[in-house]
Amino acid sequence: MTKLYSSPLQGFTDFRFRNAFNTYFGGIDTFYSPYIRLNGKRTIKASYERDLLPENNAGIEVIPQIITNDADEFLFVSKYVQSLGYKELNWNLGCPYPMVTKCGMGSGLINDSEKIKQILDRVHSESDISVSMKMRLGYENSEEILNVLPILDTFPLKNIAIHARIGKQLYKGGVNLDGFQKCIDASNHNLYYNGDITTVKSFKEMQLRFPSIDHWMIGRGLISDPFLPNMIKTNTTAYPENKVKIFKEFHDTLYNGYSESLSGASHLLLKMYHLWEYFSVIFSNPKKALKKIKKAKSIRAYDSAVAEILKTERLLT
Ligand SMILES: Cc1cc2nc3c(=O)[nH]c(=O)nc-3n(C[C@H](O)[C@H](O)[C@H](O)COP(=O)(O)O)c2cc1C
Repeated sequence: MTKLYSSPLQGFTDFRFRNAFNTYFGGIDTFYSPYIRLNGKRTIKASYERDLLPENNAGIEVIPQIITNDADEFLFVSKYVQSLGYKELNWNLGCPYPMVTKCGMGSGLINDSEKIKQILDRVHSESDISVSMKMRLGYENSEEILNVLPILDTFPLKNIAIHARIGKQLYKGGVNLDGFQKCIDASNHNLYYNGDITTVKSFKEMQLRFPSIDHWMIGRGLISDPFLPNMIKTNTTAYPENKVKIFKEFHDTLYNGYSESLSGASHLLLKMYHLWEYFSVIFSNPKKALKKIKKAKSIRAYDSAVAEILKTERLLT
């Protein structure tokens, strides 16, 4: 049975987004939360706590994520998430940004098999948390992961999700499907596919290409087209007739939530602008829609920009 996972996007897929998404769209079985990074401190920031509290995620299946290259940090965060009732911690070995990779974390850790082994050894001997991984194919090249997979085979990992790019690419260029196939051939673990699932068509192409994979992670595609997971699940390329109405309710729920939690109009407008960088994609004229949002420098201007975009869309669809 096909399972769809929401691949985390720091700054986007927080608990407010997850709740609103689940209410208006559905189709996602499980959400990974954006990563927790401790930065050497043994405290959990309030924003991480808010994001993971069970009461903020009622009825939603969430798997917390950590980014670290330190076994003590891993164990500390494991205990913390277990105290909230979580049974699994996902380890991020995918983040491509230099401020992370230069510290030997995220995709910058993939070429250090020895360290990965040491950390997993300690976590598995000192904790009973279930561990899953999220990786890229490597940082410098797509062969790096092939050195790690045999080591990962020696641990009882729940699964390994692979974003089929290398860190150096950031988000540029295409996904390396041959590279992902090599991972399938080289690993005994349950692999999840991640990367560039943006339409029902692209999902079906991946499914045909990798018939043994039944777990799929969608990151950016879920924000740019929140209807997508449900359309994949119901095997249709048709949007619901009341697409604009559903989108509006979703938008308003997010907007109201963020207007309560963010201080000041400029923060709120920036947050909404970043969301619209994705949202605009499913509108008939994405560039025009985004331009309208960008031009809106006050709450009133934003409200009327959104109303105008939705009205135009209603007339077109
Ligand atoms: C703005 C942004 C933030 C992200 N934050 C995270 C994160 O916290 N944890 C993670 O594992 N991946 C993170 N990712 C990567 C996505 O989860 C996903 O692996 C990647 O975008 C490829 O999948 P996609 O093509 O479906 O988007 C982030 C990506 C973007 C663009």
